[in-house]
Amino acid sequence: MTVQGAVLRALRKPRGTAPQGFGKTNRRDRWAIYPIVQGLVFTICAGYLTFSGIFWGPLFGPQVVESQGYLSPLFSPLILFKDMPWWLSPGLLILWIPIGFRATCYYYRKAYYRFYFADPPGCAVGEPTVHRRFKLENAFPFILQNLHRYMLYLAFIPLFFLWIDVIKAFADWDAAGVAHPRIGFGAVLFLVNTTLLTGYSLSCHSLRHLVGGRIDCFSCTRARRVRHTLWERLTDLNRNHMWWAWTSLITVTLADVYVRLLGAGLTDPAIRF
Ligand code: FES
Repeated sequence: MTVQGAVLRALRKPRGTAPQGFGKTNRRDRWAIYPIVQGLVFTICAGYLTFSGIFWGPLFGPQVVESQGYLSPLFSPLILFKDMPWWLSPGLLILWIPIGFRATCYYYRKAYYRFYFADPPGCAVGEPTVHRRFKLENAFPFILQNLHRYMLYLAFIPLFFLWIDVIKAFADWDAAGVAHPRIGFGAVLFLVNTTLLTGYSLSCHSLRHLVGGRIDCFSCTRARRVRHTLWERLTDLNRNHMWWAWTSLITVTLADVYVRLLGAGLTDPAIRF
């Protein structure tokens, strides 16, 4: 056997016990509903966010990044500089972080491997035979999934600015920079969105490993006991990582849509003090 043949053979997936052939399974539940619904929601939200944050301004004119004191989360922190090229949206300068973070997320990987690549379509469901050679995360571009922990570190930068935006959203700011407190629908939406985004980041599998991993004895020192307590809290969040992932994706989409609606003339309902 040639070296190439031996490598390809080693890369083959084990056949497992599922029936062979695309979509074949012994399961009796409606297993296809989840990947179909998740694929639709993900495609709509991710497609809209990419279009709104990166292509809308350059293609269709003035970019709505802020309206009535609400800065869209897609553009936070807002980075503008002199002589900015017309094709460069300020969203592009920041969105690569949350896009990279979500695209490499362990949960989303499972989800989009299922609904985009049918690899596999579901647990114990046969996949297309063309997938028998398993190279997915051993070769470019999917080997880049290993960057997830670094994207996690970076993700806390926009998150920090999103919390500043939440605080600012609870006030009208006059020309002199004086704040007039308000509770607007947008401010509440921003608060919910940023809370969910924080929950999504804190429930990350990589963060849980960073805090509690590579320790043989949790009770040996005071610092390790503190780490154990933190790890337990993160584990509680991590159990619902899928829930944080979907809810935060939907609210970040709604927050940007809301800022665009305000920019189109909608008035933010608010109680002012
Ligand atoms: S595993 Fe999902 S954000 Fe890290």
